[in-house]
Amino acid sequence: MAIIAPSLLAANFLALAEECRMVNESEAQWLHLDVMDGRFVPNISFGLPVIKQVTQANKKVSDVHLMILEPEKYTSAFKDAGADILSIHLEACPHLHRNIEQIRSLGMKAGVAINPHTPVLLLKDILADVDQVCIMSVNPGFGGQKFIPHSLAKIRELRTMIDEKGLSVKIEVDGGITLENAASVLKAGADVLVVGNTVFSSPDPKETIRQLVSLSAS
Ligand code: DX5
Ligand code: ZN
Repeated sequence: MAIIAPSLLAANFLALAEECRMVNESEAQWLHLDVMDGRFVPNISFGLPVIKQVTQANKKVSDVHLMILEPEKYTSAFKDAGADILSIHLEACPHLHRNIEQIRSLGMKAGVAINPHTPVLLLKDILADVDQVCIMSVNPGFGGQKFIPHSLAKIRELRTMIDEKGLSVKIEVDGGITLENAASVLKAGADVLVVGNTVFSSPDPKETIRQLVSLSAS
């Protein structure tokens, strides 16, 4: 069964307690939290104080996606803020292996995220050391963008790589997921769907999550 990770970036920030309650009551297993620094990506989102309070209210797995330069400077701060999984970008880390080890040594699961232009092949020598790979299916920085179709080929390629190596690394796909394209993303081999606007702009977010979960079972 696929994991649905609603992305808080698309939530109503004036009603975060209610949005967290909705996710807690839903069939989503994870909550996705996007951190942007205005340097790695051309946008700034929310940071540690918000995440700290949200993770206290959140009963699901807190999946933190860092779209920041020098993420190693903040690893332990995100652990203290309640992150269960911390993903960092391959493009932001010249010492990715060291950074991944640092995340794991603090007791979090470690993920590596790749931008749409970054080949899956570049993950070959880090794959055995991570818990998940986040394939960005939009250019990171903004919610509500259109899914880049080429992402499907990348998901398939990564699925083959993981299976051939006999690893249990999860594939997370982030950006532009809708009720229309979710099935094809899962069929390509995704384990986790990050879903922002499709969930939070829905008139019935819990029902939308339920539909995504039931899609994944088929
Ligand atoms: C984009 C973020 C995504 C975003 C997805 O940079 O990493 O997690 O919230 O939002 P939607 O599902 O609206 O594309
Ligand atoms: Zn994200």
